[in-house]
Amino acid sequence: MNSVAVPFPDSTPSGYTWFDDEPEFDAGLHLQLEKPAEKIYLEDLGYSEEEIATKASRVAASSPFRVLSDEGAAIMLGVARRLRAHAISCERIENMVRGGCYRSRWLRDLCINPALTQQMSEIYEVEVAAHSMPLHLGHMNFSPDDLSRAVDKWHHDTIPLDFVMMVSDPATLDGGQFEYFMGTKHEMTELAAQGKTPPPDRVVAPEFPGPGSVIALHGDMVVHRGAALNSPGERISMVNAYVAMDTSGDDQHRHKDLRLVDDPEALYAEWAKHAAWRARERLDTLISELEFSADRLSVAKALEHAVADVAKAVEEMSDDGEISMHHYEK
Ligand SMILES: [Fe+2]
Repeated sequence: MNSVAVPFPDSTPSGYTWFDDEPEFDAGLHLQLEKPAEKIYLEDLGYSEEEIATKASRVAASSPFRVLSDEGAAIMLGVARRLRAHAISCERIENMVRGGCYRSRWLRDLCINPALTQQMSEIYEVEVAAHSMPLHLGHMNFSPDDLSRAVDKWHHDTIPLDFVMMVSDPATLDGGQFEYFMGTKHEMTELAAQGKTPPPDRVVAPEFPGPGSVIALHGDMVVHRGAALNSPGERISMVNAYVAMDTSGDDQHRHKDLRLVDDPEALYAEWAKHAAWRARERLDTLISELEFSADRLSVAKALEHAVADVAKAVEEMSDDGEISMHHYEK
């Protein structure tokens, strides 16, 4: 099965050129797909059944598992080092690369690989596809130049589902561990209002066995961060996002935040296609399932629900007001 939400575009936005001297991605040589030993669920974090029911998956996170072979991990590190030349900065993350899949075909072909996507579907227990917006494929975080800064502050993602890969060897680093909070976003909001971060006894720092291993993460529901490094080191992580093929649930994105960080030429077209895909799926469901009904308002509501993501995208894209980026730590 090859689940595709929006196909990767044939053209790139202006200003992106392909690396022309890369090895070709070879799934047989570069992937080493293993299964996670453990998973935790949204209910384990304290989310209610009512809230979980509208989300892309019931799964919250997995233990680390291997995705790349040694050879694949070595190429991944080389691609990441090369992409670092295109790093940008935002309030939350000092050094990150977006749109790497418009520059590296190897990275693109890894991020949209059908076997890897299928593996993620099994882990999430729902059918997923590589993210409909290429900016959310192969996102990379690099060590901050300022050592006192967290690699990425406590936050939840602007996307629903992803994996977080250690690209550099975690064994070479002092600090810089990936951490998540065993609680809900609502609890985190309360903690942040009191100027607090998650208590250490409720923070999990998974042990990544080596470069090329990942954890699955329900990024929009699990509060997490990349902790600060204790001494200088090369810390590179890669986040690859997924969307649930069942579009009946919440969109679970904060597309608007991206206006602060992403290349506008890429962002708006990708965002429009994402919203159009979600609405098309919902409209198809409505066409095949809507029953005859004299209940005028409930029919109007069904139609409104079908195009809700398009309406929201139009509103958020057109808004000229001030935008702020959501994260917990100041
Ligand atoms: Fe994140």
